[in-house]
Amino acid sequence: MKDLKPLFLLDPDVHFLNHGSFGAAPRPVMAAYQAWQMRLERQPVHFLVNELPGLLHAAREALGHYLHAPADDLVYVPNATYGVNVVARSLALQPGDEILTSDHEYGACDNAWALVCRKTGAVYRRQPIPLPAAPPQEMAAQFWQGVTPRTKVIFLSHITSPTALTLPVAEICARARQAGILTLVDGAHAPGQLALDLPALGADFYTGNCHKWQ
Ligand SMILES: Cc1ncc(COP(=O)(O)O)c(C=O)c1O
Repeated sequence: MKDLKPLFLLDPDVHFLNHGSFGAAPRPVMAAYQAWQMRLERQPVHFLVNELPGLLHAAREALGHYLHAPADDLVYVPNATYGVNVVARSLALQPGDEILTSDHEYGACDNAWALVCRKTGAVYRRQPIPLPAAPPQEMAAQFWQGVTPRTKVIFLSHITSPTALTLPVAEICARARQAGILTLVDGAHAPGQLALDLPALGADFYTGNCHKWQ
């Protein structure tokens, strides 16, 4: 296999494997990033006021092309957890409403839902998905056993943090749409690892990171 290490600025003495927390950027990406910083510093007000909105739109178009999604459906947030918080805290949940999730979710996102539930009286239910993982359709059926008439939201990781499973989110989102249940997918690891087609995936909300594997 080609040695990719020279493409990164990483300490050559370190075998860096954790691109899932904070990915290291390849050298050309760092060069582009620093060129943008220099451009900002040359004319800060002109750059931020006049140039940035158009540049961000062009960047959303490029990202949309990568994700097969219209640019106007994409919103920049600092990270995936932030996106989960934005959605979770914006829903008009009532006491007794249920948010169904799996028992493979990322702690900070579980915490966000716990807070929302404490404030609204909604209930966060973790449906077990047993290990070793079953084939996708069976996994979707295992998860669906947790749905009740009170389920208002389904929240799932696309790729799970503690167990590195790819969950069958497209199947589950399709079924949820038929049942009138909102879906939020935490795709923190997905844009750099999976060929994503967001419209085909069919989630109501999808949050992801470009700073991990991508
Ligand atoms: C499934 C999942 N969601 C969310 C996150 C948090 O990512 P961030 O800190 O970029 O929001 C992680 C981090 O590893 C994760 O594995």
